[in-house]
Amino acid sequence: MMRYFLCLGILAAAVLVNGQPAFVSIDCGFSGDHAYNDLDTNLTYQPDGEFIDTGSNHELGATYVTDKPTQARNLRSFPDGTRNCYTIKNVIRGYKYLMRASFLYGNYDNDNSLTDNGQLAFDLYLGVSLWKTMRIIDADQLYIAEIITIASSDYFFICLLRTGNGTPFISALELRPIDNGIYHDVNQTVSLLLWERWDMGSDQTFRYPKDKYDRKWMPDGIGRSCSANLYRCNSNSEPNPNVVATTELVRFDANDPYAVPSVVMQTAKVAPDNITLEIDFRDGNSISPPPLPPPLFYIYLHFSELNASASASASRVFLIKIPGIKSIPYTMTSEYLAERHVPISYQADPDPSTYYLTLTKMQGSMLPPLINAMEVYSKINLASIATDERDVDAMMAIKKQYDNKHNWQGDPCVPANLSWSIVNCTSSSSTSFRVTSLNLSYKGLEDSLSTAIANLTALKILDLSNNYLRTFPDFLANLSSLQSLDLSSNKLDGPMPAHLCHKQAKGLLSLRLEGNPCSSGGACECSKHTNRSQVLVVSMAATVVVVLILLSVFFIWRRRRGKRQPSKPQQKWKQIGGSSFHTDNSRFTYHDLRMITNNFERAIGKGGFGTVYYGRLPDGTEVAVKMQKRLLAIDEGVTEELKNDELSSYSHAIKEFQVEAQLLSRVHHRNLVSLIGFCNEGYSLGLVFEYAAQGSLRDHLSEKAYSEKNLSWRERLRIAIDAAQGLEYLHKSCKPPIIHRDVKTSNILLSENFEAKIADFGLSKSFLSDAQTHISTHAIAGTPGYVDPEYHNTFRFNEKSDVYGFGIVLLELVTGLPAVLKFPETGHILQWVRQGLARGNVADIVDLRLKRQYDNYSVKKIIDLALHCTSMDANERPTMTVVSMLLKESLQLELARGEPEPSMSSYTEILDVSQSGTSEITSSAPEMSGPSAR
Ligand SMILES: *[C@@H]1O[C@H](CO)[C@@H](O)[C@H](O)[C@H]1NC(C)=O
Ligand SMILES: *[C@@H]1O[C@H](CO)[C@@H](O)[C@H](O)[C@H]1NC(C)=O
Ligand SMILES: *[C@@H]1O[C@H](CO)[C@@H](O)[C@H](O)[C@H]1NC(C)=O
Ligand SMILES: *[C@@H]1O[C@H](CO)[C@@H](O)[C@H](O)[C@H]1NC(C)=O
Ligand SMILES: *[C@@H]1O[C@H](CO)[C@@H](O)[C@H](O)[C@H]1NC(C)=O
Ligand SMILES: *[C@@H]1O[C@H](CO)[C@@H](O)[C@H](O)[C@H]1NC(C)=O
Repeated sequence: MMRYFLCLGILAAAVLVNGQPAFVSIDCGFSGDHAYNDLDTNLTYQPDGEFIDTGSNHELGATYVTDKPTQARNLRSFPDGTRNCYTIKNVIRGYKYLMRASFLYGNYDNDNSLTDNGQLAFDLYLGVSLWKTMRIIDADQLYIAEIITIASSDYFFICLLRTGNGTPFISALELRPIDNGIYHDVNQTVSLLLWERWDMGSDQTFRYPKDKYDRKWMPDGIGRSCSANLYRCNSNSEPNPNVVATTELVRFDANDPYAVPSVVMQTAKVAPDNITLEIDFRDGNSISPPPLPPPLFYIYLHFSELNASASASASRVFLIKIPGIKSIPYTMTSEYLAERHVPISYQADPDPSTYYLTLTKMQGSMLPPLINAMEVYSKINLASIATDERDVDAMMAIKKQYDNKHNWQGDPCVPANLSWSIVNCTSSSSTSFRVTSLNLSYKGLEDSLSTAIANLTALKILDLSNNYLRTFPDFLANLSSLQSLDLSSNKLDGPMPAHLCHKQAKGLLSLRLEGNPCSSGGACECSKHTNRSQVLVVSMAATVVVVLILLSVFFIWRRRRGKRQPSKPQQKWKQIGGSSFHTDNSRFTYHDLRMITNNFERAIGKGGFGTVYYGRLPDGTEVAVKMQKRLLAIDEGVTEELKNDELSSYSHAIKEFQVEAQLLSRVHHRNLVSLIGFCNEGYSLGLVFEYAAQGSLRDHLSEKAYSEKNLSWRERLRIAIDAAQGLEYLHKSCKPPIIHRDVKTSNILLSENFEAKIADFGLSKSFLSDAQTHISTHAIAGTPGYVDPEYHNTFRFNEKSDVYGFGIVLLELVTGLPAVLKFPETGHILQWVRQGLARGNVADIVDLRLKRQYDNYSVKKIIDLALHCTSMDANERPTMTVVSMLLKESLQLELARGEPEPSMSSYTEILDVSQSGTSEITSSAPEMSGPSAR
């Protein structure tokens, strides 16, 4: 709400100040720092520095300054560059504006270039269209270019273009918002260029504040000072027969589309011969070529009867005649002191000598023709084809950061011959151009690269070569149209981001990276492109090295722990075990493991890492011993030789693992499976873990669980809470956080009393996954069915990837199905659940083995949570902390249901029930699959 009002406030400020339109008044070339109040108009004029970044300031020659408006006493000239532009921002698109540029040469350059037949000419552009060609002949004259137009964007570019006839300059720039209710002829396609605006019979110029739009009404040159309330002016007691005047207020009504101020209407011109009045708007200076194409004129004649005696009858009847075109009879209405307007528009003749009109008294008219004011405009078609506004904004932001003044001016793309040197553009539609190519090579760019580049969404070619970039810019991911990217000769030293690898792999992107530190070592390359067999060798060698490191780190850790906590169970069994065991706390020999496992008698699991055996320490503690395959290989007399140089070349991986192992040494939580010890002999490897008596959660959810014990909803929730707490600990309490990367039901183990413990964490990254490489192509990417969909784009795991995996675990708990459905249903569990929910009945997707013994809300809450955890957008997924909290709430609901907590003894009962209902269950739950691999 607050922000909404804030925005409104800013918007209003751009349009209105104290209920008045906010004028923009710029004194070009003013060297002061601050805006000043102009005494003639009471308007505030600003220095032009914030609107332009090129050109230089000059004062007029001393002899020219006298009697000039303040703004005209200095100017900005542009000796460099072809196009130099002012940018006026905060314009209201769709709003009608009057814009005026003023030029007074005044021999500012002390060159007197106008006196000896010199010519000074340049083009003035509004946006990408020619506004007016300025021809400066008289050094002492104020030249004006004025236009009434509708803003087509939220900025105006006003540009001066050198045309080979001297240095362009400008004295003042004035922007006046005017009511959309006036000048109806101006619309999106019609803008009006001012030719003349005369206050007839007057001897002075009127503008703001007399005219609230700051139109400048120029004297027509025949007026004389008028005294009060006379029809004729009498200055020096010389009556002027051609002028009538009044001091009475001339009225116009609220809807008057011209709103000519009273002071302008108070004087009028009458025909000198009492018959015909000729008004000439031919361009006085002979050097101007005739306008091409011939103008389409918009002429507004403003009339008001100033003779009080004439009001009784229609005393003025006259014909408005335009040479060769048409005659409009006009009868002045009898109303005294009311404004009347006659708009005329017509296509002029190519011959400029015809640019005039006459007012001729008609027979029977009592009084001669009269006219109070007049405006002559010609139509301008401002090209609507310009650069897409978003691209302009982005290019202006880029320019601001890496300024190169003279070639980066005005519209970036249009006109083509003046487009910015760093871009190429393509017209995307009939109304706009898009920047499709950007060259920022050799610009000294560092990593604080302008993020505005990301907004050039049509960009196809981007050249960032020969700069100082150290990292791949993040915004590259936003440039979906990018086809060619040159990053050569930078300081890039990191791996290429996945999104670029992806595009390159698909052949959508041509990429240049030579001359970067990373390109020599191949580190820039995408890992996807490295040779598969290379990966295997690397991963095998890395595994061995990494394991060695792990073991030594673990060894030290174990010793420290041993010292601190001398009463650990391991200590006890050692003493009991006697001489056949090593004296070391955590270190086992191969012989020890043989004894513990009773010569590897009972395999309790099999995974990528190897086989897991049941074991018992001498003190009776049950353990799980994971034996790496290679160990068995040694047993069979087959050893894999790894060359020393291969080992030594992976010191990077070792270093990384050292850090990770140190982290692991600090990880202790009751919901995490702990490592008791290890065996490392030659190439042999065994790991001794805490034993989970009840196996994995997957085992309990799989089909074979029909014949054993069914987990109640309550137990499932408790398991989920335990597992969530384990993950939460890894994410929150470990610094840096440990990402599990392989959250799945087979990695959630259950202790004797069904307490859940997360297995395979921490090691997975450098150790287990690598070890799995040669048996499973999916190892690096986690387990199918559990992998965060974002991983496919980013090839990066983060906490939210674990949350995704956990969401799948929750769905398994609810449905009893595996993540990837097998016969007879196929597909992913998430899809299956969504389809089920779409059919409307939550109960249909809940595991039938629960026999509807659950609180409906509790289950619904978990389904919601699971869907939330598996959102496509990782940012929408909750953290594990939030997940734990919601799980506990769900458990509260379930406990409130009031059913007695199932005790161990009730398992038999449940078993009985499930056995008696077996046929029913299997027939209505055909999607149940066999046990998973582990
Ligand atoms: C100039 O404007 C101020 C307020 O903006 C006003 O108080 C003052 O009367 C004005 N002066 C003239 C001469 O109009
Ligand atoms: C603008 O006015 C002209 C003539 O009055 C008309 O032909 C044209 O269609 C108008 N354009 C728009 C966009 O209204
Ligand atoms: C026009 O009329 C005025 C009086 O209304 C008169 O003084 C003047 O001489 C007339 N001009 C001509 C040329 O007749
Ligand atoms: C004003 O109107 C009256 C009546 O038509 C006429 O006699 C008189 O000459 C007019 N005055 C001027 C200055 O035109
Ligand atoms: C624009 O195109 C021209 C001609 O194809 C080429 O020489 C120039 O390098 C391009 N500029 C950019 C910024 O891509
Ligand atoms: C990029 O575009 C967005 C949305 O149009 C805008 O909010 C943002 O300011 C732009 N960024 C730059 C650096 O221009």
